[in-house]
Amino acid sequence: MFAWQAAGSRQWLARAVRRNHSLEATELANTSLDDKTKAWKSLINIAVSGAAGMIANHLLFKVRIYGLFLRGFQLASGEVFGPDQPITLKLLGSERSFQALEGVAMELEDSLYPLLREVNISVDPYEVFQDATWALLIGAKPRGPGMERAGLLDINGQIFAQQGKALNEVASPNVKVIVVGNPCNTNALICLKNAPNIPAKNFHALTRLDENRAKCQLALKAGVFYDKVSNMTIWGNHSTTQVPDFLNAKINGMPVTEVITDIKWLKEEFTERVQKRGGILIQKWGRSSAASTAVSIVDAIRSLVTPTPSGDWFSTGVYTTGNPYGIAEDIIFSMPCRSNGDGDYELVKDVIFDDYLWERIKKTEAELLAEKRCVAHLTGEGNAYCDLPEDTMLPGEQ
Ligand code: LMR
Repeated sequence: MFAWQAAGSRQWLARAVRRNHSLEATELANTSLDDKTKAWKSLINIAVSGAAGMIANHLLFKVRIYGLFLRGFQLASGEVFGPDQPITLKLLGSERSFQALEGVAMELEDSLYPLLREVNISVDPYEVFQDATWALLIGAKPRGPGMERAGLLDINGQIFAQQGKALNEVASPNVKVIVVGNPCNTNALICLKNAPNIPAKNFHALTRLDENRAKCQLALKAGVFYDKVSNMTIWGNHSTTQVPDFLNAKINGMPVTEVITDIKWLKEEFTERVQKRGGILIQKWGRSSAASTAVSIVDAIRSLVTPTPSGDWFSTGVYTTGNPYGIAEDIIFSMPCRSNGDGDYELVKDVIFDDYLWERIKKTEAELLAEKRCVAHLTGEGNAYCDLPEDTMLPGEQ
């Protein structure tokens, strides 16, 4: 029997197990998995929430052409976790989306991915996060008509508080968590606060999409291919106050301001275009970005599991406590990071600030501090008090 055939039957078995809660069947499934994978690296468990949604669909099926998790069809530099790294996908959905989630699992099975050894689906985060080494938290409620931002923070905050508790209890102690569901910085903070056993450093809010957008705009303006743009920092919140930093970014190794001398364009058009890109896309496309978000999730993971090229860095929203820049502590803030490829990162120290940059950093910081006050009831810090700045918006809200 071919490996994929054996794997296929185990996937079905494993799914049946999760739904019937049969211990005997669990042992059977695990035994055969161990037997089959003993010549390989140990399985890694990747949990994905919002798994029946558009972003996850792109992430699970389409991004593979970039060599994501499952196959070696890479256009660029290789697979994220390596061509000999078997994985388990654990997919979290809601009661409402469960049937769609079953469809996703069926398609994963039918795709015969040689590295995919098990697919589990569930609406219970405690099941899905069991032993997870990566948790990609995509699922969140979108802001509905008439809903205040405080309401959105509260509804999504409750989801992320519950998921933080579940991760704390059942995930691998060094699980890396990437929060995509908006408002992702504050959702990541809530998750972190509810998971005291997991290092705070392991929580990320996805701002890689903003970094990619900024690189694209600079490349278009300079008339170069986007791989010539480096050292691109997004500071702060994944919202319209985010700061795409053209002062420290480089094109062909030169400061951006020496290549694009139109400073007015950089300060106004470029900055606003990146900040509002998500909203304009929604206007045109009728829905939130999905394909580019999925690509940026892959980029974000790849940045943590491969060494950062010498002299470069990447942006990710991480915990500020101990940061060298003087940004307020105890929030999740996008900052420049480097990794040696072990899943961890360090903050880049050699960045410069001018008044323009620092003023904008303070604005996005103020917004995040206000969001934090608004969810104090979910972070265990007392009563919530919502005084969000009036112009506080997600990239998609305009
Ligand atoms: C994006 O940046 O494209 C999204 O975060 C927009 C949104 O609000 O869904």
